[in-house]
Amino acid sequence: MKLELAKSAGFCYGVRRAVHMAEVEAETGRPCVMLGPIIHNRDVIEYLERKGIGLVHSPEEVPEGSGVLIRSHGEARAIHEALAKRTCTVIDATCPNVSRIHQLAVQAEEEGRQVLIVGTPTHPEVTAIAGWCRHPVILSGETDLTNWLEEAPERCQMPLTMVSQTTSTRFIWDSCVEKAKKVCTNLKIFDTICNATCKRQSEAQALAARSDAVVVIGGRESSNTKRLAELCGALCPMVVWIERAAELEPSNLCRKASIGITAGASTPEWIIKEVYDKMSDENIEIEESFAEMLEKSI
Ligand code: F3S
Repeated sequence: MKLELAKSAGFCYGVRRAVHMAEVEAETGRPCVMLGPIIHNRDVIEYLERKGIGLVHSPEEVPEGSGVLIRSHGEARAIHEALAKRTCTVIDATCPNVSRIHQLAVQAEEEGRQVLIVGTPTHPEVTAIAGWCRHPVILSGETDLTNWLEEAPERCQMPLTMVSQTTSTRFIWDSCVEKAKKVCTNLKIFDTICNATCKRQSEAQALAARSDAVVVIGGRESSNTKRLAELCGALCPMVVWIERAAELEPSNLCRKASIGITAGASTPEWIIKEVYDKMSDENIEIEESFAEMLEKSI
Protein backbone atom coordinates (compact mmCIF):
# COMPACT_ATOMS: atom_id res chain seq x y z
CA MET A 1 0.00 0.00 0.00
CA LYS A 2 1.37 3.42 -1.00
CA LEU A 3 0.74 6.69 0.76
CA GLU A 4 1.22 10.01 -1.02
CA LEU A 5 0.97 13.47 0.48
CA ALA A 6 -0.08 16.51 -1.55
CA LYS A 7 2.91 18.87 -1.68
CA SER A 8 0.86 21.91 -0.64
CA ALA A 9 -0.92 20.21 2.29
CA GLY A 10 -1.03 22.26 5.48
CA PHE A 11 -0.78 25.91 6.47
CA CYS A 12 -1.04 28.53 3.74
CA TYR A 13 0.81 31.83 3.94
CA GLY A 14 -2.11 33.75 5.51
CA VAL A 15 -2.76 31.16 8.20
CA ARG A 16 0.93 30.77 9.03
CA ARG A 17 1.20 34.56 9.33
CA ALA A 18 -1.86 34.82 11.61
CA VAL A 19 -0.68 32.04 13.94
CA HIS A 20 2.80 33.55 14.04
CA MET A 21 1.35 36.96 14.98
CA ALA A 22 -0.58 35.31 17.81
CA GLU A 23 2.50 33.44 19.03
CA VAL A 24 4.61 36.61 18.99
CA GLU A 25 1.93 38.42 20.98
CA ALA A 26 1.70 35.54 23.47
CA GLU A 27 5.48 35.71 23.98
CA THR A 28 5.24 39.33 25.17
CA GLY A 29 3.14 38.25 28.13
CA ARG A 30 0.75 41.16 27.56
CA PRO A 31 -2.96 40.34 27.88
CA CYS A 32 -4.41 39.47 24.51
CA VAL A 33 -7.52 37.77 23.14
CA MET A 34 -8.58 36.61 19.70
CA LEU A 35 -11.88 37.86 18.40
CA GLY A 36 -13.37 34.64 17.01
CA PRO A 37 -11.17 31.64 16.18
CA ILE A 38 -8.10 33.10 14.48
CA ILE A 39 -8.15 30.18 12.02
CA HIS A 40 -10.58 27.30 11.51
CA ASN A 41 -8.77 24.63 13.49
CA ARG A 42 -9.76 23.67 17.03
CA ASP A 43 -6.36 22.25 17.94
CA VAL A 44 -4.61 25.47 17.00
CA ILE A 45 -7.14 27.52 18.98
CA GLU A 46 -6.61 25.30 22.03
CA TYR A 47 -2.83 25.60 21.57
CA LEU A 48 -3.07 29.42 21.54
CA GLU A 49 -5.41 29.39 24.54
CA ARG A 50 -2.79 27.38 26.44
CA LYS A 51 -0.31 30.13 25.54
CA GLY A 52 -2.61 32.67 27.18
CA ILE A 53 -4.56 34.02 24.18
CA GLY A 54 -8.21 33.84 25.20
CA LEU A 55 -11.13 33.50 22.80
CA VAL A 56 -13.94 36.09 22.73
CA HIS A 57 -16.79 36.47 20.30
CA SER A 58 -17.67 40.16 20.31
CA PRO A 59 -15.87 43.51 20.69
CA GLU A 60 -17.77 44.05 23.97
CA GLU A 61 -16.05 41.00 25.47
CA VAL A 62 -12.54 42.35 24.79
CA PRO A 63 -11.12 43.37 28.18
CA GLU A 64 -10.16 47.03 28.50
CA GLY A 65 -6.46 47.53 27.90
CA SER A 66 -6.03 44.14 26.22
CA GLY A 67 -4.62 43.33 22.80
CA VAL A 68 -7.12 41.86 20.35
CA LEU A 69 -6.27 39.73 17.34
CA ILE A 70 -8.40 40.04 14.23
CA ARG A 71 -8.61 36.63 12.60
CA SER A 72 -7.25 35.65 9.20
CA HIS A 73 -10.76 35.76 7.65
CA GLY A 74 -11.03 39.46 8.44
CA GLU A 75 -13.82 41.37 10.14
CA ALA A 76 -16.49 43.82 9.01
CA ARG A 77 -15.91 47.56 9.13
CA ALA A 78 -18.39 47.84 12.05
CA ILE A 79 -16.23 45.49 14.14
CA HIS A 80 -13.11 47.58 13.49
CA GLU A 81 -15.08 50.69 14.43
CA ALA A 82 -16.38 49.09 17.63
CA LEU A 83 -12.84 48.07 18.62
CA ALA A 84 -11.52 51.56 17.87
CA LYS A 85 -13.92 52.92 20.52
CA ARG A 86 -12.42 50.64 23.19
CA THR A 87 -9.07 50.96 24.91
CA CYS A 88 -7.57 47.93 23.25
CA THR A 89 -4.69 47.37 20.85
CA VAL A 90 -5.76 45.82 17.57
CA ILE A 91 -3.41 43.25 16.03
CA ASP A 92 -4.80 42.73 12.57
CA ALA A 93 -4.05 39.21 11.32
CA THR A 94 -6.45 39.48 8.38
CA CYS A 95 -4.82 37.74 5.44
CA PRO A 96 -3.59 40.45 3.03
CA ASN A 97 -5.44 38.67 0.19
CA VAL A 98 -8.68 39.18 2.13
CA SER A 99 -7.88 42.81 3.02
CA ARG A 100 -7.47 43.44 -0.71
CA ILE A 101 -11.06 42.26 -1.30
CA HIS A 102 -12.29 44.68 1.40
CA GLN A 103 -10.52 47.51 -0.44
CA LEU A 104 -11.98 46.43 -3.80
CA ALA A 105 -15.48 46.37 -2.32
CA VAL A 106 -15.12 49.82 -0.71
CA GLN A 107 -13.71 51.30 -3.91
CA ALA A 108 -16.49 49.74 -6.01
CA GLU A 109 -19.18 51.33 -3.85
CA GLU A 110 -17.38 54.68 -3.93
CA GLU A 111 -17.64 54.44 -7.72
CA GLY A 112 -21.38 53.74 -7.42
CA ARG A 113 -21.09 50.09 -8.34
CA GLN A 114 -23.06 47.14 -6.95
CA VAL A 115 -20.76 44.60 -5.25
CA LEU A 116 -21.47 40.94 -5.95
CA ILE A 117 -19.66 38.48 -3.68
CA VAL A 118 -19.41 34.90 -4.89
CA GLY A 119 -19.08 32.71 -1.81
CA THR A 120 -20.74 30.83 1.01
CA PRO A 121 -23.15 33.34 2.64
CA THR A 122 -22.49 32.17 6.20
CA HIS A 123 -18.70 31.94 5.96
CA PRO A 124 -16.92 34.50 8.19
CA GLU A 125 -14.73 35.73 5.34
CA VAL A 126 -17.82 36.42 3.22
CA THR A 127 -19.79 38.10 6.01
CA ALA A 128 -16.74 40.26 6.72
CA ILE A 129 -16.43 41.30 3.05
CA ALA A 130 -20.16 42.06 3.03
CA GLY A 131 -19.55 44.12 6.15
CA TRP A 132 -17.44 46.55 4.13
CA CYS A 133 -20.36 47.22 1.75
CA ARG A 134 -23.53 49.22 2.29
CA HIS A 135 -25.67 46.93 0.10
CA PRO A 136 -23.82 43.71 -0.70
CA VAL A 137 -25.25 40.84 -2.71
CA ILE A 138 -23.91 37.40 -1.84
CA LEU A 139 -24.21 34.64 -4.43
CA SER A 140 -23.35 31.06 -3.65
CA GLY A 141 -23.06 30.19 -7.33
CA GLU A 142 -24.33 30.64 -10.87
CA THR A 143 -27.92 29.70 -9.98
CA ASP A 144 -28.08 32.50 -7.39
CA LEU A 145 -26.65 34.93 -9.92
CA THR A 146 -29.19 33.92 -12.57
CA ASN A 147 -32.07 34.25 -10.09
CA TRP A 148 -30.84 37.64 -8.89
CA LEU A 149 -30.57 38.98 -12.43
CA GLU A 150 -33.93 37.56 -13.50
CA GLU A 151 -35.66 39.04 -10.45
CA ALA A 152 -35.08 42.50 -11.90
CA PRO A 153 -33.75 42.35 -15.49
CA GLU A 154 -32.58 46.00 -15.32
CA ARG A 155 -29.79 44.71 -13.04
CA CYS A 156 -28.04 43.48 -16.19
CA GLN A 157 -27.34 47.14 -17.05
CA MET A 158 -26.21 48.16 -13.55
CA PRO A 159 -22.52 48.84 -12.85
CA LEU A 160 -21.51 45.59 -11.19
CA THR A 161 -18.27 44.53 -9.50
CA MET A 162 -17.85 40.82 -8.84
CA VAL A 163 -15.35 39.38 -6.33
CA SER A 164 -14.93 35.89 -4.92
CA GLN A 165 -14.39 34.32 -1.53
CA THR A 166 -10.68 33.39 -1.54
CA THR A 167 -11.46 29.70 -1.01
CA SER A 168 -14.17 29.30 -3.64
CA THR A 169 -13.64 26.74 -6.38
CA ARG A 170 -12.58 27.62 -9.89
CA PHE A 171 -15.73 25.90 -11.21
CA ILE A 172 -18.13 28.05 -9.16
CA TRP A 173 -16.27 31.24 -10.01
CA ASP A 174 -15.89 30.46 -13.74
CA SER A 175 -19.59 29.60 -14.12
CA CYS A 176 -20.55 32.92 -12.48
CA VAL A 177 -18.12 34.85 -14.68
CA GLU A 178 -19.39 33.12 -17.81
CA LYS A 179 -23.02 33.91 -16.95
CA ALA A 180 -22.29 37.53 -15.99
CA LYS A 181 -20.24 38.18 -19.12
CA LYS A 182 -23.08 36.92 -21.29
CA VAL A 183 -25.78 39.19 -19.90
CA CYS A 184 -24.26 42.11 -17.96
CA THR A 185 -23.23 45.22 -19.84
CA ASN A 186 -21.22 47.09 -17.18
CA LEU A 187 -19.17 44.53 -15.33
CA LYS A 188 -15.87 44.58 -13.47
CA ILE A 189 -14.52 41.20 -12.47
CA PHE A 190 -11.82 40.61 -9.86
CA ASP A 191 -10.71 37.01 -9.60
CA THR A 192 -9.88 36.98 -5.88
CA ILE A 193 -9.59 33.22 -5.44
CA CYS A 194 -6.32 32.81 -3.59
CA ASN A 195 -3.40 31.19 -5.45
CA ALA A 196 -2.74 28.97 -2.45
CA THR A 197 -6.32 27.71 -2.75
CA CYS A 198 -5.99 27.09 -6.51
CA LYS A 199 -2.74 25.20 -6.08
CA ARG A 200 -4.07 23.11 -3.21
CA GLN A 201 -7.25 22.28 -5.12
CA SER A 202 -5.52 21.28 -8.37
CA GLU A 203 -2.97 19.16 -6.50
CA ALA A 204 -5.74 17.48 -4.54
CA GLN A 205 -7.63 16.73 -7.75
CA ALA A 206 -4.54 15.20 -9.39
CA LEU A 207 -3.88 13.17 -6.26
CA ALA A 208 -7.50 12.00 -6.06
CA ALA A 209 -7.46 10.93 -9.70
CA ARG A 210 -4.50 8.57 -9.13
CA SER A 211 -5.49 7.26 -5.67
CA ASP A 212 -7.88 4.57 -4.48
CA ALA A 213 -8.70 6.62 -1.39
CA VAL A 214 -7.96 10.12 -0.13
CA VAL A 215 -7.70 11.27 3.46
CA VAL A 216 -8.56 14.97 3.78
CA ILE A 217 -7.41 16.52 7.07
CA GLY A 218 -8.95 19.74 8.31
CA GLY A 219 -11.44 21.44 10.61
CA ARG A 220 -15.17 20.88 10.14
CA GLU A 221 -15.64 24.66 9.95
CA SER A 222 -12.93 25.04 7.33
CA SER A 223 -14.40 26.04 4.00
CA ASN A 224 -11.26 25.25 2.02
CA THR A 225 -11.07 21.77 3.58
CA LYS A 226 -14.71 21.14 2.66
CA ARG A 227 -13.95 22.16 -0.93
CA LEU A 228 -10.97 19.79 -1.03
CA ALA A 229 -13.18 16.92 0.15
CA GLU A 230 -15.81 17.76 -2.48
CA LEU A 231 -13.28 17.99 -5.30
CA CYS A 232 -11.59 14.73 -4.28
CA GLY A 233 -14.98 13.03 -3.96
CA ALA A 234 -15.72 13.79 -7.61
CA LEU A 235 -12.56 11.95 -8.72
CA CYS A 236 -11.91 9.23 -6.16
CA PRO A 237 -14.25 6.47 -4.92
CA MET A 238 -13.33 6.91 -1.25
CA VAL A 239 -12.76 10.17 0.60
CA VAL A 240 -12.30 10.27 4.37
CA TRP A 241 -12.51 13.72 5.99
CA ILE A 242 -10.97 13.83 9.45
CA GLU A 243 -10.14 16.66 11.81
CA ARG A 244 -7.46 14.80 13.73
CA ALA A 245 -5.70 11.44 13.74
CA ALA A 246 -7.96 9.95 16.43
CA GLU A 247 -10.85 9.95 13.94
CA LEU A 248 -8.97 7.85 11.41
CA GLU A 249 -9.95 4.20 11.04
CA PRO A 250 -6.96 2.75 9.16
CA SER A 251 -8.76 -0.58 8.84
CA ASN A 252 -11.16 1.10 6.39
CA LEU A 253 -8.20 1.89 4.17
CA CYS A 254 -6.16 -1.28 4.44
CA ARG A 255 -7.30 -2.82 1.16
CA LYS A 256 -6.50 0.29 -0.86
CA ALA A 257 -3.45 0.09 -3.12
CA SER A 258 -2.79 3.82 -3.06
CA ILE A 259 -3.90 6.43 -0.54
CA GLY A 260 -3.54 10.17 -0.99
CA ILE A 261 -3.42 12.65 1.86
CA THR A 262 -4.22 16.31 1.61
CA ALA A 263 -4.93 18.91 4.26
CA GLY A 264 -6.74 22.23 4.41
CA ALA A 265 -4.91 25.53 4.67
CA SER A 266 -5.57 25.72 8.43
CA THR A 267 -4.28 22.24 9.28
CA PRO A 268 -1.02 22.34 11.25
CA GLU A 269 1.88 20.03 10.41
CA TRP A 270 1.66 18.33 13.79
CA ILE A 271 -1.78 16.91 12.92
CA ILE A 272 -0.50 15.70 9.54
CA LYS A 273 2.32 14.05 11.48
CA GLU A 274 -0.17 12.35 13.82
CA VAL A 275 -2.02 10.91 10.82
CA TYR A 276 1.31 9.75 9.42
CA ASP A 277 2.21 8.06 12.70
CA LYS A 278 -1.14 6.34 12.93
CA MET A 279 -0.83 5.01 9.39
CA SER A 280 2.73 3.90 10.12
CA ASP A 281 1.46 1.96 13.12
CA GLU A 282 -0.88 0.16 10.75
CA ASN A 283 2.16 -0.74 8.62
CA ILE A 284 1.00 1.27 5.67
CA GLU A 285 4.00 1.76 3.43
CA ILE A 286 5.01 5.41 3.42
CA GLU A 287 6.65 6.93 0.39
CA GLU A 288 10.15 8.09 1.22
CA SER A 289 9.48 11.63 -0.01
CA PHE A 290 6.58 11.93 2.46
CA ALA A 291 8.68 10.79 5.38
CA GLU A 292 11.45 13.23 4.40
CA MET A 293 8.98 16.07 4.03
CA LEU A 294 7.58 15.44 7.49
CA GLU A 295 11.01 15.26 9.06
CA LYS A 296 11.87 18.64 7.56
CA SER A 297 8.61 20.36 8.46
CA ILE A 298 8.12 19.24 12.06
FE1 F3S B 1 -4.93 33.95 2.76
FE2 F3S B 1 -5.18 32.33 0.75
FE3 F3S B 1 -4.61 31.39 3.08
S1 F3S B 1 -6.46 34.07 1.21
S2 F3S B 1 -5.58 32.78 4.51
S3 F3S B 1 -3.29 32.73 1.85
S4 F3S B 1 -5.98 30.45 1.61
